[in-house]
Amino acid sequence: MNSLLHNQPFSRRRFLIYSSAGVAALWLSGCTSAALPLAQQPSTLATAPSGAAATDAAAALEFRLIAGKQETPILPGAVTQSLGYTGSVVQGDANAVVTLPNSYLGPIVRVRRGQTVRVHVRNELDEPTNVHWHGLVVPAEVDGQPSNLIAPGAEVEYTFEVRNRPGTYWFHPHPHGRTAEQAYMGLAGLFIVDDSEEAALGLPTGAQDIPLVIQDRRFDADNQLVYVAPGMAGMMDETMGILGDRILVNGAPDLTLPVSTQPYRLRLLNGSNARIYKLAWSSGAPMTVIATDGGLLEQPVTASYVMLSPGERVELWADFSQDTVGAATKLVSLPFEGVEAATMNMMGMMHHEPALPNGAAFDIMTFVVTEAVEHNLSLPAALLPAERLDAQNAVNASQPRTFVFAMDDAMNWTINGRSFEMDVVADDEKVRFGDTEIWELVNLMEAPAPVVAGGMAGMDHGAHGAHGSDAASQPAMRDFMAHPVHLHGVHFQVLDRQVDDAQRAGWETVKDGLVDAGWKDTVLVMPGERVRIAVRFDGYRGRYLFHCHNLEHEDSGMMRYFEVV
Ligand code: C2O
Ligand code: CU
Repeated sequence: MNSLLHNQPFSRRRFLIYSSAGVAALWLSGCTSAALPLAQQPSTLATAPSGAAATDAAAALEFRLIAGKQETPILPGAVTQSLGYTGSVVQGDANAVVTLPNSYLGPIVRVRRGQTVRVHVRNELDEPTNVHWHGLVVPAEVDGQPSNLIAPGAEVEYTFEVRNRPGTYWFHPHPHGRTAEQAYMGLAGLFIVDDSEEAALGLPTGAQDIPLVIQDRRFDADNQLVYVAPGMAGMMDETMGILGDRILVNGAPDLTLPVSTQPYRLRLLNGSNARIYKLAWSSGAPMTVIATDGGLLEQPVTASYVMLSPGERVELWADFSQDTVGAATKLVSLPFEGVEAATMNMMGMMHHEPALPNGAAFDIMTFVVTEAVEHNLSLPAALLPAERLDAQNAVNASQPRTFVFAMDDAMNWTINGRSFEMDVVADDEKVRFGDTEIWELVNLMEAPAPVVAGGMAGMDHGAHGAHGSDAASQPAMRDFMAHPVHLHGVHFQVLDRQVDDAQRAGWETVKDGLVDAGWKDTVLVMPGERVRIAVRFDGYRGRYLFHCHNLEHEDSGMMRYFEVV
């Protein structure tokens, strides 16, 4: 390994370090003067294939991740205390793990489909953690579930084969009750899967292949991250989800990215705890979506805007060919409604409107054209074939399995009236390996009384007693929010959506941006909405999680195990 690196002329090495993942230059705190020269590497260099590009059956990748405390310059002035992962390759392609200078985020791990990955994770935090590979279909033991934790000071190994379609995945901690704060403090990285079929399409690569992780954060006067606010406002934060008033992209505020007059592949992840984005170009041009959570679509989809809820990814084809040098285009979030529908009386009483509410309009980042170049890239009319699941022949086609996402009488976020339980899988949470099923994900104002099936499940909540009658006569303690629903261990396809008339007006402000084509692992379910998905449980047997990816909702119990038997 070492000798290989030493044999490379310095400039080549530097190029690999800074642009093998396309963009690490961006992580230079949005400091354009530093980012400019790197982003302007000649395109011949930028499109040079990396050493690993030759075969899909590449050698195994072994790397180390240390979850620990960091200090990062984010805002002008004092550095920010954060948490973060430090990555390094033990064996395999030295460029497969790219560190992001001056960012709490990262690293970016880049693998080939079919590759075996062995990760040694060391916990240098003061509390237990673990790593979940969001979107990757891996055995339950290495899925990073709340029941599998890494004690402080300990190290574990995760080994799995990358079976997923090429696409943009990510990783973050998943200890129950602590996921939200650990992720908020900085523990998250991207996991990009490539393969030769995708490479043959001739999409933008190298410095034209740009991951963009969008997050919102709150800072105090000393530039330190603020998680839950003190007092009543903190209760709101924990119930509704943390909303920051600073938008960061790749860990940097007010990011400006220099681009040249050619197409780019933008890989967007919403890495926020609770904020939903309504992405659009400031120019009013439509967005061209080429991929969602599970990789490339069969063909590009255009939309005037794109909704991106926590955990979701979307890839855009962004073509600056027609722009002149100096032109600036902003990626913005447009205003929308309906995320917090029918806010309850209690919320009115203790109302602490966040500085930047969900649904407010704001700028996310700016692309500035700094250079005119020639290119011969064009958007392929067909991307990658994607199998359509046969929903008509789903085992429960006539009677879909329903999961209701709602708040119960005690103000817990629940699924079918149940909060998270570490050791219990209810009868209606068991599926058979290999089956294709239809699941109906329903967002209601009021949680149903949990069905007590198979004993334990729901006993907790039985204790709240007079559920129906009391709640109906005093509907005070309740809130109604959007839930981005994520399933582990599978990818699924969205079949259709229905919305209650009472919630339709808000829903209309987001519906054109719900990109339901292709494979998904996270889907936005708006208040009053029913989303039907088709899922085939053909990954691995065992227990997997499904939950709301509003991380505060997840931590407060809107998560359950399902079991593939
Ligand atoms: Cu991104 Cu269960 O999580
Ligand atoms: Cu939720």
